[in-house]
Amino acid sequence: MRHFVIVGILVIAMAVLTYVGLDAAGVASQMHPVAASAQAASIDQLWNWEIIAMSFLFALIVVPMLYSLIVFRRKKGDTTDAEHIEGNTPLEIAWTVGPLILVVFFAYMGAYSLGEVRRADPQAFEVKVKAQQFTWTFEYPEYGFVSTELRLPVGRQAVLKMESVDVIHSFWVPEFRVKQDVVPGRVTEYRITPTLPGSYKVRCAELCGTSHAYMESPIVVTTQADYDSWVAEQQALAAAAQTPEGQGQLLSVKNGCTGCHSLDGSALTGPTWFGMYGKEEELADGATITVDDEYIVESILDPNAKIVSGFPSPSVMPPYQFTDDELASIVAYLKTLK
Ligand code: CUA
Repeated sequence: MRHFVIVGILVIAMAVLTYVGLDAAGVASQMHPVAASAQAASIDQLWNWEIIAMSFLFALIVVPMLYSLIVFRRKKGDTTDAEHIEGNTPLEIAWTVGPLILVVFFAYMGAYSLGEVRRADPQAFEVKVKAQQFTWTFEYPEYGFVSTELRLPVGRQAVLKMESVDVIHSFWVPEFRVKQDVVPGRVTEYRITPTLPGSYKVRCAELCGTSHAYMESPIVVTTQADYDSWVAEQQALAAAAQTPEGQGQLLSVKNGCTGCHSLDGSALTGPTWFGMYGKEEELADGATITVDDEYIVESILDPNAKIVSGFPSPSVMPPYQFTDDELASIVAYLKTLK
């Protein structure tokens, strides 16, 4: 009995020390980035309970093992066998009921957390999310525009209706905690109530191809007032899209072109569009071409036809389908980028 009391006390002390140590090392609380959504609270709480359970189980295994090794080690000159023990009903009940309680507790906590994360707010506003290799686009049906960045007002639940046009992607914002797959042929839902204004990033969390690691888009959480003025700005931009150049710009945003083609000369997966029109380019086979209407249209419809030297071959860009009018407006837009 004396041994049980000592081991019991040591197990509790070891569990507490392990938890405090993990916490100090940043595992229990600071391993996550800042929590920026209402949904994060129950997930972080669940995580904390799991760290507590792990600390206890670690102590429960390590302490009796070390205690037995030290206290019950064979004495010098003792060659007798150890006492033979068979069956111990109280012990068997304890190690059946204990884990059962633990598993039921975590099942309850998991279900509770899932319920919190999925809870629908009737006031939620909708954003349509389109995932494709290797960009995210956000459509605001309420306001009639499309954006490559996701803006959300603080304190209001947004419901993202997500679709993929090609392969499986996964919408993940570490600060929001919730992660959701985006599956072709299906609309998946993602509910989020941002609580902290700031700039975050959505990352793709499902290996989806060669540029998977670069499939990121900015997320900005602002006050309702800043959000409203951004919406007005975007609506003005959408209205300007009545000209061919504007139409071309809108098409490039809608199709996620700017995820791989920068507008300011910076290097992304594909050639920058800045100053592209009229430029002389060397192809992989050494030939030179001038970027003109014909070359741009060909590269959109068949990206593998002519690959500029220095870019991967075969091209990572999928072929796109556009009408002649749309192609002309994209060319018109490219001409303005200089
Ligand atoms: Cu999309 Cu990885």
